[in-house]
Amino acid sequence: MSGYFLYHSIGTFPGKAARMGEALSRFSKVWSAEDDGQWPAALAERQAFIDAWRAVIDAPAGSMTTTENVTTALYSLIGGLPAERLRGQRVLVAADCFPSLHFLLAGLAPRFGFMLETVPFRRGEAWVRDEDFIARWQNDVGLALLTFVSSTTSHRVDVETLAAHGRAMGSIVGVDITQGVGIVPFSVAGGAFDFVVSTSLKWLCGASGAGILHVRPDLLAVCQPELRGWFSQDNPFSWDLDAFRYAGDARRFDHGTPSILPAVASLPGIRWVMEHGISALRDNNLRACRRIIDHARDLGWPIVSPLNDYARGGSVMLTLPETTEPQALIAALRERALFCDARGSTLRLSPGVVTAEGAVEELFNALTRIVPTGRTRSA
Ligand SMILES: Cc1ncc(COP(=O)(O)O)c(C=O)c1O
Repeated sequence: MSGYFLYHSIGTFPGKAARMGEALSRFSKVWSAEDDGQWPAALAERQAFIDAWRAVIDAPAGSMTTTENVTTALYSLIGGLPAERLRGQRVLVAADCFPSLHFLLAGLAPRFGFMLETVPFRRGEAWVRDEDFIARWQNDVGLALLTFVSSTTSHRVDVETLAAHGRAMGSIVGVDITQGVGIVPFSVAGGAFDFVVSTSLKWLCGASGAGILHVRPDLLAVCQPELRGWFSQDNPFSWDLDAFRYAGDARRFDHGTPSILPAVASLPGIRWVMEHGISALRDNNLRACRRIIDHARDLGWPIVSPLNDYARGGSVMLTLPETTEPQALIAALRERALFCDARGSTLRLSPGVVTAEGAVEELFNALTRIVPTGRTRSA
């Protein structure tokens, strides 16, 4: 029985070790061959990864490239915007964005001359409401970064409505889809978003280091990334020091020799998810999430995630009792082969395709035994 509830951290699928192992072993043979086939094969693998990702979010050819992680993807994009695009403007982000992106934006603000505005939580609430975000979003917002699904509550924002508002305000609208992609539908086909940042290791079941950046072609055309290098060009071998020219497509966001291994290691997971279909995976996930919610309600434990399925990503977060030491609880669950984690007093539960049918009941049996009263303070 798999008691794995960690898809918000690392996603997995049946046969992952074998499929990933085969891909890496095939690659290591190519890479170690004493011939000159390494780079053509390596770049083809990377392109296959980009194309697989394009299929996940319906991105047009030439609009996506690889990054090391989500933070570097955001940095590349901001460093590529036309000079002065953000100067004197506000950059809007919600208090429940991923902290790393907030750290980056706060550091970039003085140099790029923008004011970072963080839309706060309402008192006692765990996620930032969409209407509060919109209320702060006027036409002096140069760029807004939306978090599709929050990593602390699994709250899912209505990205389409928010992006439509952003368009009306003339803002650049970016979305961090890391916690949602692969488990809830997301598409750039309607052209609603100017850029998308993400990575592959969560619901897409890939490896770390396999970040992506998608930029809408009309915005891409005016970007000149400051983080640039030989691979930002159409022809990386154009080495005339006075003739640097950006590639016409998303390759302009590349810089030095691209990383290949995370792409190789991630492809099997992305392909598996796409073969099985996000909607089937979501149905399975929803059944488990609803059972988690029912059990938590029976116990009287506060649920920190939206109860409405549409407003929630793939996880359910619960508040632990004040008397519970979160890491001791996680360790006690680990001893019972039940794997989840906690951020502060928030228990994060993300059931996926490997999580056994009975694992939710097993988990709650264990929780009631380990946390004897079974009661927490009210939310
Ligand atoms: C919403 C969200 N964004 C971004 C990240 C990761 O960012 P990075 O790849 O820069 O570490 C995470 C990781 O948990 C996340 O949950």
